[in-house]
Amino acid sequence: TSKFFARDVLKKCNVNQPKYYVCKDKDDVLKIKNDIGLPFVIKVDGLAGGKGVYVCINENDYIDAIENIFEKNKFGSSADTILIEECLFGEELSVFAVCNGKSFKILNTAQDHKRIFENDKGPNTGGMGAYSPTPLSTENLIDSVKNNIYKPVLEYMESVGHPFTGFLYAGLMLVNNQPYVIEFNARMGDPETQVVLPLLKTSLFDLLYSATQNRLNQIDIEIISKTALTIVLASEGYPGNYKKGQKIDIKDPELLFHAGTINKDGELYVNGGRVINVVGIGSNLKEAKLNAYNDLEKIDFDGKSFRKDIGDKGIAYAQSNLEVE
Ligand code: AMP
Ligand code: GLY
Repeated sequence: TSKFFARDVLKKCNVNQPKYYVCKDKDDVLKIKNDIGLPFVIKVDGLAGGKGVYVCINENDYIDAIENIFEKNKFGSSADTILIEECLFGEELSVFAVCNGKSFKILNTAQDHKRIFENDKGPNTGGMGAYSPTPLSTENLIDSVKNNIYKPVLEYMESVGHPFTGFLYAGLMLVNNQPYVIEFNARMGDPETQVVLPLLKTSLFDLLYSATQNRLNQIDIEIISKTALTIVLASEGYPGNYKKGQKIDIKDPELLFHAGTINKDGELYVNGGRVINVVGIGSNLKEAKLNAYNDLEKIDFDGKSFRKDIGDKGIAYAQSNLEVE
């Protein structure tokens, strides 16, 4: 739960990451700003419900960060330590692995869509859609992620007497084709899980149980070589104040996951900001997208809102790569 701890581990392991500076107060932040100038990223060290990261491209972004962190004191003791990071620019992807000591198995890669509106505009949300795998994830990239990120980090954790068992989610940015670690989560992602698990052929139970029994390396991971894409249906107003209590009609879609729903006497009602995840599976990203958007028509409730461009970035990337080849 400490971003500084994660950065420090990565530094000791020589893993690619943005340059970073540790600050204790507003004066420290100002000093760094005078030294390195914008752009940079300000992060509160502790947990912040996904809201403690400020990408400061211009002065207004910086003022907003300072106001929230220091003047409104939004993050309490989570902001006792502040990180300033070099702002990286590149494509983002997430990698999911199950780990046990030095052993680990990569489940798949995914790309999330964190902003509420199309073209990555508007405030950050928990995630408005995702697909797996991402066309960014070549075999070379996965090898590099395994050998240069997971392996050294897990070996280090074991060497200091804290072997790690569980999911390790690496949020990465590709800079000049090299993966840089933006963040780690000791969990799966939401909505990434909704696209990673449907493609997992291996029994999830066997996989997790073997990790707890120190025999993860005896398990072969089998992944269905298709693409899954999920669209989050949110209730109007999310991530701010949103409507609740509307009745939901569902007409037999292929695959969906409930989130903010409640069943009252056999009827479904909206009971949260992110309401339902519709999943489409296809032989490629385009087909998965088509299937998911078709199925989304089978679900209806007052104030149903969603992004229309889930997958578009990946489709454009895959097309431009084909042209290059
Ligand atoms: P995090 O909660 O650490 O994943 O950060 C949220 C989002 O902020 C990431 O998904 C990135 O888009 C962005 N971000 C975080 N750190 C950096 C960085 N050092 N450079 C550029 N963008 C960043
Ligand atoms: N969808 C982002 C996360 O679960 O962290």
